[in-house]
Amino acid sequence: MCGIVGYVGSDTKAKDVVMNGLRRLEYRGYDSAGITLYNARFRIFDTYKDIGRVEHLAQISKLAMPSTIGMGHTRWATHGAVTKNNAHPHSSQSGRFIAVHNGVIENSDELKKQYLSDIYFSSDTDTEVIIQMIEKLSIQMSVENAISTTLKLLEGSYALLIIDTHNPETIYAGKNKSPLVLGSSKDGHIIASDIMALSDYCDSFVALKDETFTVVHDNRAHFFDLNHQLIEPEYLKIDNDFYQAEKGEFEHYMLKEIYEQPSVIRRIISRYLLDEKDEIDEHIAQQIELSNRLYILAAGTSMHAGYIGKFLFEKYAHKPAEVHIASEFAYGQPWISDKPFYIFISQSGETADLRACLTKIRKTDAKVLTITNVKTSTLAREADFSVDLLAGPEIAVASTKAYVAQIAILAILADKIGAGLDIKASLNRVALVMDKLLKEQKISEIVKEKLVKRNCFYIGRECDYYTSLEAALKLKEISYIQAEGFAAGELKHGTIALIEKNTPVIALIGNRELSAHTRSNLKEVIARGAQPIVIAMRNASLSSDDIIVEDVHEALTSMIMVVPTQLIAYYAALDRDLDIDKPRNLAKSVTVE
Ligand code: AGP
Repeated sequence: MCGIVGYVGSDTKAKDVVMNGLRRLEYRGYDSAGITLYNARFRIFDTYKDIGRVEHLAQISKLAMPSTIGMGHTRWATHGAVTKNNAHPHSSQSGRFIAVHNGVIENSDELKKQYLSDIYFSSDTDTEVIIQMIEKLSIQMSVENAISTTLKLLEGSYALLIIDTHNPETIYAGKNKSPLVLGSSKDGHIIASDIMALSDYCDSFVALKDETFTVVHDNRAHFFDLNHQLIEPEYLKIDNDFYQAEKGEFEHYMLKEIYEQPSVIRRIISRYLLDEKDEIDEHIAQQIELSNRLYILAAGTSMHAGYIGKFLFEKYAHKPAEVHIASEFAYGQPWISDKPFYIFISQSGETADLRACLTKIRKTDAKVLTITNVKTSTLAREADFSVDLLAGPEIAVASTKAYVAQIAILAILADKIGAGLDIKASLNRVALVMDKLLKEQKISEIVKEKLVKRNCFYIGRECDYYTSLEAALKLKEISYIQAEGFAAGELKHGTIALIEKNTPVIALIGNRELSAHTRSNLKEVIARGAQPIVIAMRNASLSSDDIIVEDVHEALTSMIMVVPTQLIAYYAALDRDLDIDKPRNLAKSVTVE
């Protein structure tokens, strides 16, 4: 993953722009960070980098001079360990070229062997291969040609910013598969991995296309394909309000985002379900009707929302649907019906595994819908249709409100093709019940008392099973407790061997018809010493249950059942004093395959 940001302009604000941008891009990786800034007095670039977070970088670079040019990087390691040497920016052997890079160059070893055996490398990164190639080629050709020739040789993904120290007032930027946007303001240009890094300074942006590069100089940006032919950019307006997110009274973004869920649902109702203005493209429902099988592709939390979508489409709208792990679908050979319709679910709209699926699907005539929280994202732009989740910026790495919004959108789509969910009233009820639950919740005490082990199981049936997958992922992600979600009836087929005295088993009982079965499965583990925690809907509850939530439409129970599990994960991580919004080894937007 990684986040990159660069500024070139007439104002001496490069350091502020780059540091602020890196702070906002830190969700993309936070192993190490670096910045390079032009020191006009000595005509050199001052580079600061180290392992650690962006705040540490701010400390070590605090004496840097004001500058009109700079670029920075926040890293999520792919090639090479987390070390200061592997942190970006990287320089070519002579120091002439400097680069920051997000992506993975799959043929870097081959390029190194074939062209660069005489070059000294100071890092283990694939990025250094790019910059050494450019330096080598620039001996025989112009810098722009050296860049385009190098980019043509690269296999893999890159969002790349390059500075030629012989011509320090220019930034070159190349893009393939990894996201890169250029924003323009009156005093200069900012180029970054995400609009978030531009939104405080720019009103419009260009999303660079794959296999293109841009040259930014003298307050102008020119765009080229890799054959060095000029291409016409398309400037789009930035929705600046979307990108403003503060923690407010909350200690963590994750808690704030959990508490925002009722208002997200109400926003969805007001934009998509008021009769006079349904903003969902009517062709989407037509395409779903026309298809004979839906293929829902996603990863992680979004995939868990996809399972709930399958449940809604099949049980209520009688439309066959399959859910696939994006990274498996991209290169596997699943049987595809003769009239498929693809639904991509992605909070970020940038997930590389889904982009690989899109490349595969584009070889057929099938149509693709992306459901995403970032309406300007790559997957939103490249799909045939897109629906905006309207969840507002989700900053915590662990996804919460986007998940609930994904289910709401899937329910609306199922309803459009006849699921009969009385969707407006049903979603309103979910928002109301969620408000009440969030006001009265006492989950931190339950967590302190009962979640005392290094492992934990969630169990449930039908869509409670899907919720248990999401609940377990959330707990793993931020509390590092080993957690698994199981179909309640499946535990006895092997995994029950792991149950010991006090192993927490959290039963999700949102479905009244199946509650007796789940409770029997719970008894089986209690008999083996498990510590049970029961979360139940009122109409399926017993007075002894730990958390009872008020009833909602039976099709939408998963939207409400997930909330206590989000809070369990949050309080478990809080108790362990962990970095809740930025858990170890993770990044918010997974732009590598
Ligand atoms: C969610 O808590 C996770 N951080 C992760 O599983 C995420 O859902 C997954 O990487 C998919 O991301 P996307 O929704 O942006 O495509």
